[in-house]
Amino acid sequence: MNARSEMLNLIRSRKAGYSLPQPFYVDQDFFDLDLELIWYRDWLFAGHDCELAKPGSYFTMQVGAYPIVVLRDRDGAIRAFHNSCRHRGSRVCSAERGVAAKLVCPYHQWTYNLDGSLAFARQMGEDFDRSLHSLKPVACESVAGYIFVCLAAEPPAFAPFSDLMRPYFAPHNLADAKIAFQSTIVEKGNWKLVWENNRECYHCAGSHPELCKTYSESPNVTGVAGGGEDPEMANHWARCEAAGLPAQFRMHDSGQFRAIRAPLLRDAESYTMNGARAVARGLSDGVAAERIGALMLFNYPTTWNHVLIDHAVTFRVMPIGPNETAVTTKWLVHKDAVEGVDYDLDRLTHVWTQTNNQDRRIVEENALGIRSPAYEPGPYSPLQEGGVIQFVDWYARSVEERLGGAGRGHVRRVA
Ligand code: FES
Ligand SMILES: [Fe+2]
Repeated sequence: MNARSEMLNLIRSRKAGYSLPQPFYVDQDFFDLDLELIWYRDWLFAGHDCELAKPGSYFTMQVGAYPIVVLRDRDGAIRAFHNSCRHRGSRVCSAERGVAAKLVCPYHQWTYNLDGSLAFARQMGEDFDRSLHSLKPVACESVAGYIFVCLAAEPPAFAPFSDLMRPYFAPHNLADAKIAFQSTIVEKGNWKLVWENNRECYHCAGSHPELCKTYSESPNVTGVAGGGEDPEMANHWARCEAAGLPAQFRMHDSGQFRAIRAPLLRDAESYTMNGARAVARGLSDGVAAERIGALMLFNYPTTWNHVLIDHAVTFRVMPIGPNETAVTTKWLVHKDAVEGVDYDLDRLTHVWTQTNNQDRRIVEENALGIRSPAYEPGPYSPLQEGGVIQFVDWYARSVEERLGGAGRGHVRRVA
C-alpha cells in the first residue's frame, strides 16, 4: 500500500476524539504528504510588515523544500519570491534578513530588481531574453501587520481570513510596531504535536507556573466553543466592544482560524509575574481602554498569537522533519518604546521564554512516547481538550478531502 492510501485509510478509520495513529507523528512519507497537502497549499504566516521597514528590506524562510524571500519593493509593497536563481538555481539570498537595493545571486551575480525582474546577467549572449528569467513570485498578502504567503499555484481566497481578523487586529497597529526580541527554538516533535499542545491548557497547571500567574486555564479561553455563556467572558466582550475593540469569539466555518479577546486573571494587563505591564508605552496609541486582556488568534497550520495592551507575542510554526519543528516567537512593542527606558527585555520576555521551553520539553516527551511500539491513540478530554479535538478534526478533514480528490472542494469551501 502506498502512503497516500495508507493515510486515507487511517484517517477514515480513526477514532474521533482520540489522538492520531502513530505514523501521523513519526513517518517520513506522512510528513511529506503533510507538506504536499497542507503546507504547500494553505496560507502561511511569514513575518510582520514592521520587519520590512524600508524598500529593499528582506527576510528569508524555508517551507519544506522551498526557500522563499519576502521583501519590500521600491513602491513600498510587500512581495514574496522563490529564492532560487533563474540561472542555475542557487539561493539568491542566503542571509536570514538584510537590506539590498537589488538582489544579487552569489554564484554568477545575476542581479534582480525588487520586483523580481532580472536587471543584469553577464555575458549571456545576444539572444538571451532577460524578461523570461524573472524570479518566480509566491502569493503574498499582508493584513493588519501580518504577512502571509502561499505556495499553491491557485491559492485559496485570503479574504475570509483577512475579513475576520482585520477588525480585531487593526486597532493594535502592529504594522507600525517593532520587534523587541525574537527567538527560534527547535522542538524534537512533529508539528501536529506542537499544535496539539498549544490547543489545550489541560497541561498548564502542571507545567507553566509563570504563565498561570496571568493566563486562565479555562477551556472558555483556550477553547473553540465560544465561551459567551461565561458571565466573566460576556462582560469582558461587552466592555471591550464598547471601547471599540472587537472581542467576541469568531471562528471561520472551516475551523482553520479563530479570534477571541479574553480576560487575564485578576485583571492582569500583561504576561508578567505580577500581571503589571512590561512596557510603559502602550503598544498602540489608538487603544486607550484598560484591562483589555489578550486578543488571541490562531490560523492553522502556522500561527498563534496574543496581543496585549503593552505588547504582542506572535508565534510561527514551521515543520522541519517528521520529528522536528521550529517555533519562532516575536515580542512586538510600540516602535518608539526604548529598551532600558520603557521596558526591560528580561521582564518582557521572561514568561513566554519559560513557557516555550516548558512546552518544548512536553512536546519532546510526547514525541518520544509516541515512538514506542506500545503507543496507541488515546482519548482527549472532552472538557479540557476541545481545542485539540477541533485541531485534529480540521487536520483530518483537510487531509481526507485533499487526498480523496475532493481537496479542491475543501479549498473552495475555506474560500
Ligand atoms: S546560479 Fe545564480 S547567477 Fe548563476
Ligand atoms: Fe503549554
